[in-house]
Amino acid sequence: MIFGRIKPLDAILATAEKKSLTRTLGAFQLTMLGVGAIIGTGIFVLTAEAAQKAGPGMMISFIIAGLVCAVAALCYAEMSSMVPVSGSAYTYSYAVMGEMLAWMVGWALVLEYAVAAGAVSVGWSGYFVGLLREFAGIDLPTALTLGPIDGGIINVPAFIIALLVTWLLVIGTKESAFINAILVAVKIGALILFCALALPVMQSKNFEPFAPLGFGGISAAAASIFFAYVGFDAVSTAAEETKNPQRNMPIGLIGSLAICTIFYILVAAGVIGTVGAQPLVDAAGKGIAPGSTELAAACANIGSQAVVCSKEALAWTLREIGWQQVGNLIGLAAGLALPSVVLMMMFGQTRIFFVMSRDGLLPAKLSKVHPKYGTPHVVTIITGVFVAFFAALFPVGALADISNSGTLFAFAMVAIAVLVLRKTDPNRRRPFRTPAVMVVAPLAVAGCIYLFFSLSFYTLALFFGWAFFGLLVYFGYSRSRSHVGRGIVDTHEDDAGVPPLPVPPLPGGPKD
Ligand code: ALA
Repeated sequence: MIFGRIKPLDAILATAEKKSLTRTLGAFQLTMLGVGAIIGTGIFVLTAEAAQKAGPGMMISFIIAGLVCAVAALCYAEMSSMVPVSGSAYTYSYAVMGEMLAWMVGWALVLEYAVAAGAVSVGWSGYFVGLLREFAGIDLPTALTLGPIDGGIINVPAFIIALLVTWLLVIGTKESAFINAILVAVKIGALILFCALALPVMQSKNFEPFAPLGFGGISAAAASIFFAYVGFDAVSTAAEETKNPQRNMPIGLIGSLAICTIFYILVAAGVIGTVGAQPLVDAAGKGIAPGSTELAAACANIGSQAVVCSKEALAWTLREIGWQQVGNLIGLAAGLALPSVVLMMMFGQTRIFFVMSRDGLLPAKLSKVHPKYGTPHVVTIITGVFVAFFAALFPVGALADISNSGTLFAFAMVAIAVLVLRKTDPNRRRPFRTPAVMVVAPLAVAGCIYLFFSLSFYTLALFFGWAFFGLLVYFGYSRSRSHVGRGIVDTHEDDAGVPPLPVPPLPGGPKD
């Protein structure tokens, strides 16, 4: 077997059947869950970074990133309808491509979820600082609201929100379906309001020059703005809680992605058309890297009078075009809604860790359940502390890019898994079949590779460093302890002895 240890699909499915998660989510709730997890820092904050990288051409970047996610989602949909169990890309890879690659995917998902939680915390901090200024007249010093690379010392609000969310997860806070629905409405309402005010006053001259930094800039922006779409795969992690997952999963995945793509393109057009989106360049005419001290200095020079300097791009844009109070409202919407994205990302992380430790690849102690709260407090606290430090020290764009590298790797692996499984297990029932799989799956892989290599050199260096460290852990620890490797058949009958939900239910999921 070229792929080494494989966890048979039938064993995975049997495990899932023995677990007693109630299936309560339908297509509509799944779509809302997806939209809830997707819309966040990407559109509210990173729009400014995309402008700095691509100028008005960022509209193309949004389309490119959306298309890559669409083909990846079609592959995800086939996998998640066939293998409707927890663990997302990690579980699929274990079944199809073997333990080592699954480990690498799980390891990369740490980047996706934990680092993304850090990025969204930093994004939230930008809006929080704006809210304090607008509503309370308090101007926090830059030293305490930005990390060192961004021109400050420590981002205190980002640090605090990450710890606060960790605490909520430890005491078992779940976002009820009701709260999730409200927050989704708040986010969509904010974006609609933005479009309604910005689109009618667009000026075509603001779209010129369209691609001041060439196609390289558009690609780089696409690789970063990909972050705005991350989260649709969170839908797949709810497969065990979904009614008729075979039908509802694909609807949830593709529906939520489609809704967000349309909004993003309209919002990007609104920003460009009203306040312009030309990047700041250095003396040599080269674009200055977002999140750098050079950009902070260039922004200080022009009194931050450009969207690329704003940490709250959408609120800033509206204030600029005369809608001061509505801009503040948009800021409030972001301030209210972004913490729930942090919560979902951190939650996703604990779930991935949980499944990996259930398979013996991580210490069982990690998924110890708190006697009172019934939550995996150990892994939650470890994750939360790391997230809080990333958030305190790094710029939002750098964190988003690192998160993207892990996500793109995982998405490519899922697309490859779909192809492999079509070959190795052609007769298994596929409730949802990726259409034109021989075109769509390779396109997804190619799209992920293209975006991956459009990330900055530092991001790629960090990714490969992390992957190397992951391999050391695998060969040094996990491989010899793997349940599959030791021939332990996991049936999880003993799960009855632990609280029925070893991790908190997915936000928006069933109420127990
Ligand atoms: N897509 C999510 C966001 O933009 C992660 O915040």
